Amino acid sequence: MTLLILGGTGTLGRQIVRKALENGFQVRCIVRNKRAANFLKEWGAELVYGDLTFPETLPLSFQGVTAIIDASTTKSEDNTELINVDWYGKLILMELSKYVRVQRFIFLSILNSENYPYITLMQMKFGIEKLLKNSGIPFTIFKYAGFFQALISQYAIPILEQKPLLITLESPTISYIDTQDAAFFCIKSLSIKETKNKILYTGSSQAWKSGEIISLCEKLSGQKAKTQLVSIFLLKVVRQITGAFEWSLKISDRLAFIEVLNNTENFIPAIEYTYKILEIKPKEVLELDFYFREYFEMMLNTLENLNGGQIRNRKTSII
Ligand SMILES: NC(=O)c1ccc[n+]([C@@H]2O[C@H](COP(=O)([O-])OP(=O)(O)OC[C@H]3O[C@@H](n4cnc5c(N)ncnc54)[C@H](OP(=O)(O)O)[C@@H]3O)[C@@H](O)[C@H]2O)c1
Repeated sequence: MTLLILGGTGTLGRQIVRKALENGFQVRCIVRNKRAANFLKEWGAELVYGDLTFPETLPLSFQGVTAIIDASTTKSEDNTELINVDWYGKLILMELSKYVRVQRFIFLSILNSENYPYITLMQMKFGIEKLLKNSGIPFTIFKYAGFFQALISQYAIPILEQKPLLITLESPTISYIDTQDAAFFCIKSLSIKETKNKILYTGSSQAWKSGEIISLCEKLSGQKAKTQLVSIFLLKVVRQITGAFEWSLKISDRLAFIEVLNNTENFIPAIEYTYKILEIKPKEVLELDFYFREYFEMMLNTLENLNGGQIRNRKTSII
């Protein structure tokens, strides 16, 4: 079975490539920069040049493909780029998939996308979901709220580096997932026929508010977070002048979804059905507190080694 993967260099995509190779799939990745994607080749994937914004670069890579996993997206602030990648790019992927009659098209979407038509990315995600469902292409759609990995730069690093951390009074409760688990779900779905033509809501069992994540990081790091309470209104203004602040990059992901933060809606997927259909037990899925514990232990050990053991005496109180 030849599996075509887009977004293989991304946070989730690389875990999907790794899991697919571990499970014996022949993996072909469409990449924009072969040199930057060389690690995927070293793992055993075939690399083919392609760019969603240049449709003519895509058809060749579809030869002999049995299934496709699309983990590509753009984080560009440029609306034209966003539309070219996350709308027109996906339309072309669907056309080509139909043409070569793929047995499965796995699309990765965002939880509650249907409720935010005024956010371009959400609107396009929901639009592609609808088109895919009516396309006749066998599909599986996974919907996530967010990944553990993004929380490292959003919370853990600013706390460790004692950088200001913006918090808002309004904060939805969100169920995040580790990308390794999300990748495992994707690959497993290919071998379970009941997942065909299904939308699978995906997350871990526990959901978190940002204040709870900060408290967890404080406990595990032994550092007090330098939080700054700001209103959603101020964050929207900051977004306009974001380049002026050193912490701007750290919060860029949150700023991109400021309208979502403004909402009281929670992002808690109905995971029971997904776990059941994929035959996964909740205890097999990593929880955020365990993920952060491992991260802080590793970081604090590294810092201790760099400091020649000088902070060893602090360690017991830190962990
Ligand atoms: N991150 C989240 O919290 C979250 C939440 C819900 C759903 N999702 C969805 O999950 C999927 C994976 O997200 P992620 O956070 O892992 O994404 P990511 O880390 O930003 O990776 C995006 C990938 O898309 C590729 N890409 C960008 N523009 C491209 C183009 N023009 N042509 C071909 N490939 C292009 C990138 O390749 P380069 O290496 O060349 O840039 C990269 O491999 C996406 O569909 C996303 O919408 C993510």
